Order: sequence, then C-alpha cells, then structure tokens
Amino acid sequence: MAYTVSKLTDYSAPALDASAAELLSALDDEIRVLLFADGKQSLEHRVEWTQRWEDWKRFRDRWMARKSGILTQINDMWLKGAPKEAKREAGQRVNKLKEQVSEKVDHSEQLLERQKVDAENAILDSAGTKSYATWKEALIATEGVDITLPGIRRPIGAEHPVIKTTNEMVRVFQKLGYSVADGPVVETDYYNFEALNFPPNHPARDTQDTLFIAGQQAKPQRERLLLRTHTSPVQIRTMEKIRPPIRIVIPGTVHRNDPPDASHSPMFHQIEGLAVDTNITFGDLKGTLDHAMKEFFGSSVKTSFRPSFFPFTEPSAEMFVSCFICGGSGKRGAEPCRPCKQTGWIEILGCGMVDPNVFEFVKGNGYDPRKVSGFAFGMGADRIALLKYGVDDLQLFFNGDVRFLQQFA
Ligand code: PHE
Repeated sequence: MAYTVSKLTDYSAPALDASAAELLSALDDEIRVLLFADGKQSLEHRVEWTQRWEDWKRFRDRWMARKSGILTQINDMWLKGAPKEAKREAGQRVNKLKEQVSEKVDHSEQLLERQKVDAENAILDSAGTKSYATWKEALIATEGVDITLPGIRRPIGAEHPVIKTTNEMVRVFQKLGYSVADGPVVETDYYNFEALNFPPNHPARDTQDTLFIAGQQAKPQRERLLLRTHTSPVQIRTMEKIRPPIRIVIPGTVHRNDPPDASHSPMFHQIEGLAVDTNITFGDLKGTLDHAMKEFFGSSVKTSFRPSFFPFTEPSAEMFVSCFICGGSGKRGAEPCRPCKQTGWIEILGCGMVDPNVFEFVKGNGYDPRKVSGFAFGMGADRIALLKYGVDDLQLFFNGDVRFLQQFA
C-alpha cells in the first residue's frame, strides 16, 4: 500500500513524532522495493533498467513534486493546518522531516545508479567467462556480423611510379586548360597509320615495329586490327568527335615489337598532347612545352628543339631538356653523367605542327587546314619515370616486385 499523508487531530509533540516516524518507515519500505527488485541480469538489461528508472522517477515525483508531492502535503496539512500554539513545534518537525526525506530520495538515486553499473559489469563478466558463446551469438544477431573476429588487414597500396609520373604530367597540362582523352589499345590500321598520314605500304610504318592481330588478312587494310604503336590515333578519334578549338592530353599504353631489355619493353606508356585552334604557331608549341617542362622538372631546366620527322607533323622536332641530373654540365663531380651521356641534354619527346594532310581526314568536323592550325606532342612516360627516379632498368617497372614498388609509396 502506497503511503498517504494522514490528517492530524493531535498536534502534540509525541503525536507529531509518531506521524513522522510512520512517514519515514513508509519511505524506507518504498526505497527497499525500488532497489531490491528481483531484476534478472540478462542481455535485455537495458530495457529492464529503463523500466526501473521510470519507476524511480515516479517514486521521486510522488514524494518531492512541488505541486502535490508528499512533502508539500505535509507542509499544508501538518504545518499550515496546525493551531497557533502548536505552530512552532510543528514547524521544526516538518522542516527536519523535509531534510530527511530529500536525503533518502537522493541516496536512493545513487544506490540505483551503482546497482546498474554493477549489473552491467556482471553481465560482461559472465559473458567473458561462463557464456561467451551466448553473448557472441546475441551480438551477431544484433550487429549482423561477427564483430569479435579480428579484422582483415588490407595494404593501402600506392600509385605505380609510371602512373604517378603520368598523373603529374597530365596535371601540368590540365592546369593549362587541357582535357583528358583516351581511345582503344586495339586499334585499326586507319587510325594508327592511314589518317596520321602514313600512306599504305610506306616505309615510315616500319619505324613503328607494329604488333598485328592475327587473321586479319581478309579485311581491307584500313580495317585490320593491331596494337596501337602510339597514342596519336586518339588525336584523330577525338577530332572526329569534337570540333575545334581543342586542347587535349592523352595518357595510355602502347605496344611495339621490341624485345624487353633495360630500356625497351613491348608494352609501355605514352602521354600525347594536341592543341588545335585558329592561328596556333610553332611559338605556341615551344612556349607551352617549355612551360610544362619547367613545371614538371623544376624552373631551372632549359628546353631545346631539334629538327626531326613524323608523318603527321610538319615541321617536326625532338625536344630535349637540360639534364636535370647533372644540371647540364655532363659531369657528376669527376664522373661522366650517364643519363645524358655527358651531353647535358636529355631527349624527352617528339612534337610538331599538325600536318595539313591529317586535318584533311577530319575536315568534315570543322578542321579545314586553311582555317585551323595546331601542334601535337608525344612522350614516353616510362622513360621520364626512369630518369626522374634514377632507375637503371625499365624491367623493374613491369616485374611487379613489391620490394621495388614499395620504395615509391
Ligand atoms: N607518336 C609519336 C611517337 O610515338 C610521337 C609524336 C606525337 C610526335 C605527336 C609528334 C607529335 O613516336
């Protein structure tokens, strides 16, 4: 039976004391019930404890609430209702009673809190020793996976040095407003050669050491498949799709029939560039590439352009940069500089003004050779990575030896 405040008829000291004692013992009983409720310590203890806290709050409000809590009732009934001559005695007792009640209520809160912590620890203990399996199964059910298993360590990995070099170079051109384009590695004779102004059966094709796809003889030559020997076919493919003006960089793999050695590989990587607009000059080519090399290798490198030949550019050039290893001196201390073969210059790329014959193949898409001009360039990403990282064997890039590759992570 929950305690209810009784009306007083007798306000004498002994009567007041008896009523106070009755109240306190009722309070103790309620607290005992709250604290020693026979709670089973189960995995559902959260639910159970929420319930117990609700019960406790209801109990606290019943005793302490300002509006009609038991303490307020005592004040009204035992003190305000007391006859004048009994007020002093009643006042002292009611005040003391208020203090005692709120102390007991506060204390009960602390005890309940401690019980909760103990209960949680007990559950963990029994899970860790007695019923680990039950606990774990319950976890799997709630979490969906077994979160007690050790995780699988996955190495983060890193960019391959050739890819890293490629990305860095591409970034240099992206900052100049170039977009990235790409195209197929298995290419037709038309895109790899014919539209790049290599006439059928022309000896210039022999310089490319082409790997052909077998069984293509029945097709007309321009449709025969091969592994692209350079990224230049993507120039044509992109100009077929996008009208001028155009500024693109084309990273990608290419293949040539070269046996692997320290400086050759049947598969390697190129980075191509193409800019077409009205009034593009050889000065634009030189300025763009000189800027790009300074950005990539450092502002102290110089560039040098020497005449060359490619069927798809006219005039054509090879571009050298001053050796960034020996600073252009050709020597490293007393030793000769090997990467530049003591010349102080390193060949980096082939380039030139787009040959008007090439524009003829894409004239229909706005590339009238009388109205537009452009420049193109192509460089070997693997060679640049070799030089940049001072690696002396190209094969190290392709063997997949983690001990080698980890050095670039
Ligand atoms: N495609 C040429 C090669 O692979 C390089 C090049 C690209 C030259 C563009 C001029 C212009 O050797």
